[in-house]
Amino acid sequence: MVVDAVERKIEQYLSELDDQYVLKLYKGLPHGKRLRTKLILKIAGSSLKIIKTAATVEMIHAASLLHDDVIDDANTRRGKKSVNASEGNKTAIMMGDILYSKAFFELNDISSEVAKVISNAVVQLSLGELADVRLSEKFHTNRDAYLSMLYQKTASLMEASAESAAILAGKNRKAYRQYGHNLGLAFQMIDDILDITEDTETLGKPALHDFVEGKVTLPYIYLYEKLLEEERKVLVSLHKKILTNDEELWIKSAMKKHRIIEKSYAEAKVLVDEAIDLMESLGEEDLSNIAKAMIERKF
Ligand code: IPE
Ligand code: IPE
Ligand code: MG
Ligand code: MG
Ligand code: MG
Repeated sequence: MVVDAVERKIEQYLSELDDQYVLKLYKGLPHGKRLRTKLILKIAGSSLKIIKTAATVEMIHAASLLHDDVIDDANTRRGKKSVNASEGNKTAIMMGDILYSKAFFELNDISSEVAKVISNAVVQLSLGELADVRLSEKFHTNRDAYLSMLYQKTASLMEASAESAAILAGKNRKAYRQYGHNLGLAFQMIDDILDITEDTETLGKPALHDFVEGKVTLPYIYLYEKLLEEERKVLVSLHKKILTNDEELWIKSAMKKHRIIEKSYAEAKVLVDEAIDLMESLGEEDLSNIAKAMIERKF
């Protein structure tokens, strides 16, 4: 499979670093859904340049997760102990830096246009993670700030992946960038919903963890809008707090009562439908199917 060729390329890049510990750490990371790789391959085929591009994007994505789990105090990732939990924060941070830097080094060799698009996305991703940290300091209901942070931390890399693939394939980069943009925004909206609706085992990462970490995601913003004054005080009092069973139930039943998950999901669906229409107009059935599967996922 071509996805395996991407994996072999990453392992080749990392063996060039000549550090057995780093290689072992990387090989110990469970694989994720490889969504960004699949996007790139579907847009641009499987030439060596494309495989290299997908490899750098997966390395960047893995690096962002290593850092994200430090930021979010998350001890589980892809169903296993996260690197920060098993090896400590220092190792997770430096392993992330190694993956980022090696990816940038290799990108220069692929295409300077692609290197620009992707490295710019990583600047955005990092600005987004920083904005996420700052927004988590206190309870807020700033939907615009949430959406712009969402774009930066997650949509930017998907947008750049799709655009880069289009550049290399000689396709209309603007159209594929738009597709990646919509898909990325909807992807993070769904990720924030799944944090509330699914359990840790299904997710492979801590469930109902966002609000505890201070993340006021779209469902919490919408819930606050629907609550009465007294209930709003209860919700705000639970922000950034380790929740008891009763408190978890209170949040979930309030969300249910006000149909908050449906409302948030519908917002992601609008973006995905737009992406699907765009791909169908270009005759890209596989890419439209990726968008459909993305919104129906459970992890
Ligand atoms: C997780 O991304 C981080 C977010 C942007 C929500 P993925 O859900 O694509 O992670 P893996 O690679 O499949 O584990
Ligand atoms: C982080 O978002 C997305 C990144 C850019 C790494 P989350 O913090 O929601 O990602 P998960 O839920 O831990 O995968
Ligand atoms: Mg996280
Ligand atoms: Mg995070
Ligand atoms: Mg999440």
